[in-house]
This record gives sequence, structure tokens and C-alpha cells, in this order.
Amino acid sequence: MSSAEMRQHVLAIANQRFATKKFDPSKHIDDEDWQAILQVGRLAPSSYGYEPWRFILLKNKKLKDAIRSFSWGAINSLDGADKILLILVRKDVSYDADYVKHLVMNIKQKPYSPDSPQSQHFKVFQERDLDIHTTKERFEWATRQAYIAMANMMTAATELGIDTCPIEGFNYSKMNQFLANHQIMDPEHWQIAVMVSFGYRDQPIKPKVRQPLADIYKEV
Ligand SMILES: Cc1cc2nc3c(=O)[nH]c(=O)nc-3n(C[C@H](O)[C@H](O)[C@H](O)COP(=O)(O)O)c2cc1C
Repeated sequence: MSSAEMRQHVLAIANQRFATKKFDPSKHIDDEDWQAILQVGRLAPSSYGYEPWRFILLKNKKLKDAIRSFSWGAINSLDGADKILLILVRKDVSYDADYVKHLVMNIKQKPYSPDSPQSQHFKVFQERDLDIHTTKERFEWATRQAYIAMANMMTAATELGIDTCPIEGFNYSKMNQFLANHQIMDPEHWQIAVMVSFGYRDQPIKPKVRQPLADIYKEV
């Protein structure tokens, strides 16, 4: 592909991705495609490389039915999308958390101590530079990162001819309670950030309506 063709392709994909409202319930995603999408989520960047997320595929019909009453923005997806993915985030990422110790030692295979220069640097970064001190602020910081994983997964899906819909249209407190009650997550460490559905559209791709670039881009 020439550079011009690659640019065209990138823009075609951006135009092809749209928040799908009507999915075809008879169509299913090939498992190899699904695994590739999950790998893209896994490979997403995260602040300090601390990967504060978990991806939960909601498969069980009873569980899907149970969230309908408080998930108005997900009804279209629940009616036809092949997959509903819940993206959970950790709300306990801090320099001295057991989770960070696990990630540094077992995943990154590096020595860990809360007093090490790296840990202390992370503490200063998080607490002084980002002004993050509370559980809620840690949740919101982790959520910002989860959205990158979600966006990358949606783009990858589009590349594979799969349609998506990001979903914030649900009651967060009821969803958190639901996930805790069903032992899907430990509410001490986790909260839901967002949901995203994947499937095949049963409607034409909607043309993009956006502000002109001149209104949102400046060079200084
Ligand atoms: C974070 C986020 C949450 C969203 N939540 C919902 C939702 O709950 N239900 C829904 O149908 N669409 C939802 N959308 C889709 C937006 O309405 C849609 O992306 C926007 O109108 C632009 O349209 P397009 O994505 O088709 O270009 C959400 C989008 C984002 C980015």
C-alpha cells in the first residue's frame, strides 16, 4: 500500500466505525477475530504501564437480562450485539499497593520496594503532578486509561469488519452493586469504567457529523 492509500485506509476506518444502534442477532464473531480484539486491549498503553483494567465478557443470558432495567444505553446492544464487554478498572493503584507490587515483580520481573526510587517517583507523579489522592480519583485516572483500551479495540474491530458501540448509558451504582452481588468483581478493588458491544450492523453506516477541523485544531 502506498502512503496515500494508507492514509485513505485510516480515514475509511474512522468513517466506518460508528456507534451501532441496530445489530443483527444472527451474526456471530469468529473466535480468532475476538481473540485478536482482546489482544489489542491487552496491548493498550497505560500510565506507568500499570494496566489497571480487566475485561469481562457478559455471556450468560440471565445476567444480560438482569442489567437491562438499569442499562438504557445498552438495550440496542443487548438486543443484537454478539458480545457485551464490561471494562472494569482498579481503584487502588498507588505506589504501595499490593497490585503494583505484583505487577512490578511478577509481570515486569523487576525488584519492588515501596521505598525504591521508582516507587517514590510514581508516588510523586500520582500525588503531586496528577493531584490524585482518593479512591475516586484513582478510579477516574484508571478509567481514562481503560477508554484507550476500549478505543483501540473498537478500531481493531472495525478493521476486522466488526461493528461496535461504546456504552456509558447505565446506572453505575446499580451496575457496581450487580457485579459485586454476582461475584463478578471484588468491589474493594474494582469498579466498572465502561461497556462496549461488538457485533454486526443491521443498518447502514451513519455518515459522520462533526465540527470542522478548524474549530477543534490550532497550531501555536
Ligand atoms: C464514552 C462513550 C459512551 C457512549 N455511550 C453510549 C451509550 O450508552 N449508548 C449508545 O447507544 N451510544 C453511546 N455512545 C455513542 C455516541 O453517542 C456516539 O459515539 C456519538 O454520537 C458519535 O457517533 P459515532 O460514534 O456513530 O460517530 C457513547 C460514546 C462514547 C464515546
